Amino acid sequence: MDKDLQSSQRVDAVQYKLGMRTLAAAVNIITSTHSGHRYGMTATAVCSVAADPPTLLVCINKAATTHNAIAKSGVFCVNTLRAEDSELSTTFSGAQSGEGRFKLRDWTHLTTGSPVLIDALVSFDCRLVKKIAHGSHTIFMGQVEQVLFGKKGKPLLYVDGQYAKIAALSHGEPLPEGLDYWGY
Ligand SMILES: Cc1cc2nc3c(=O)[nH]c(=O)nc-3n(C[C@H](O)[C@H](O)[C@H](O)COP(=O)(O)O)c2cc1C
Repeated sequence: MDKDLQSSQRVDAVQYKLGMRTLAAAVNIITSTHSGHRYGMTATAVCSVAADPPTLLVCINKAATTHNAIAKSGVFCVNTLRAEDSELSTTFSGAQSGEGRFKLRDWTHLTTGSPVLIDALVSFDCRLVKKIAHGSHTIFMGQVEQVLFGKKGKPLLYVDGQYAKIAALSHGEPLPEGLDYWGY
């Protein structure tokens, strides 16, 4: 391909972010604990890796305070928020800092010791098994040691710079036989 054409087609960060903001994603609070301190931050970059062994990944900015806590302690917990919890998301994305973020709600812990939000939709308690540094972020892969189902509800979503909640297209009908990714 022509060299000038190649460089003019190169995607910049603004274009990339404009594209990414259209992807609706569940909002989570990633927590960790290190040297007796609790850490936590809001994150949508959470993805399943494998069910065998149960593994998920989170992508965390190297500048985030929780980043070093995970890197040093080797543990983290993914707490998936309910649609009512947008205030908690704001608290953990900069409105509060440090220990002040945990004042709003009740927290417990499971085997890894990472803070677990009592009434999250679900919490995945993870031990770090792999990390990959890439640009501004690190991908932390965690083996899930415990899953805690908290309070029933719908997930909090983030799309187009706004918090949102789901509205089913159908009236709760399941996907066709064999096509539900998480089906049994
Ligand atoms: C909805 C939402 C999703 C976010 N997702 C991520 C994410 O996936 N990864 C990340 O590194 N930061 C993400 N952030 C930004 C962090 O929550 C924010 O920078 C936080 O303040 C970092 O923690 P710190 O203040 O302790 O450094 C997100 C923020 C919001 C509001």
